[in-house]
Amino acid sequence: MRINLHTLFPDYELLDCGNLAKLERFGDIILIRPEITANNKPALNIREWHKLAHAEFIEQTKNTGNWKSLKTVPATWNIGYNNYGINLIAELSLTNTKHIGIFPEQVLNWKYIAKIGNEIINNNFLNLFGYTGLSSIAAASFYDKVTHIDSIKKIITWTQRNAELSGNKNIRCITEDAQKFVLREIKRKTKYQGIILDPPTIGKGAKNEKWIFEDNIDDLLISLKNILDKKSFVILNFYSHTITEKFVHRLILTYFRDFNIDFCDRIYGESNTGNTIDHGYFIRLKR
Ligand SMILES: C[S@@+](CC[C@H](N)C(=O)[O-])C[C@H]1O[C@@H](n2cnc3c(N)ncnc32)[C@H](O)[C@@H]1O
Repeated sequence: MRINLHTLFPDYELLDCGNLAKLERFGDIILIRPEITANNKPALNIREWHKLAHAEFIEQTKNTGNWKSLKTVPATWNIGYNNYGINLIAELSLTNTKHIGIFPEQVLNWKYIAKIGNEIINNNFLNLFGYTGLSSIAAASFYDKVTHIDSIKKIITWTQRNAELSGNKNIRCITEDAQKFVLREIKRKTKYQGIILDPPTIGKGAKNEKWIFEDNIDDLLISLKNILDKKSFVILNFYSHTITEKFVHRLILTYFRDFNIDFCDRIYGESNTGNTIDHGYFIRLKR
């Protein structure tokens, strides 16, 4: 499915993409970042990109590098999202991993979180690999308890700042390896009515536990089954562009046979000029 995220998220815009890069607006700031799935020809030329952009990320090693300044960029700036009863403020800043504190395609999940949140009572929501907490903040308006897990302390502090800016106090933030946390919840017999996970292709737990998507996702999904309540939902995001439909179907049929598929599709983010980038698979399951 193709979608221009700007239609759902006024503070975000994919202005153009192509030649393995993307030109995006986050509030008042326009950035150029590498994008491996932008394999078409951009509509605007690089001089026009440079005229518009405030900074460009120059990759040095895979996913690390530094920002070349083209105009003044503040150390941090905020953008907001207000819709479906969700009011969130995200603090953004340029980091040396090319990420800036938001994965704007997550907006597609926030509407679903709000809708289901309104249907389920007595609820416990879990966000694994939660990054700077925007899906946790979206959930906090609807769920009694929200638990947010990420393995990096600095990212958890960032989440707490976003939660404070957004006026949310009911998010439990934990610096922990996702799989270890779920195993502990199984022992404690905790049940969740809603779980979202957005695992990276390669990651690291809080104690340097190795996370390799292809090797570890099966074990994590087996564990998740034990903490999902009888009436519950799961949102899975698999954004590695090498993931195939066959792989996704195998995971759903193996671990979520008793769930209904509310949504399962590969999402292509459309720029204002009609070019697209690949955001990977978005899967929503409910029973
Ligand atoms: C792609 S980001 C998730 C984006 C997020 N869902 C959002 O909406 O913004 C992946 C996150 O997983 C975290 N991470 C990587 N390996 C981890 C692990 N083993 N356990 C917990 N978190 C991990 C990283 O620190 C990073 O913040």
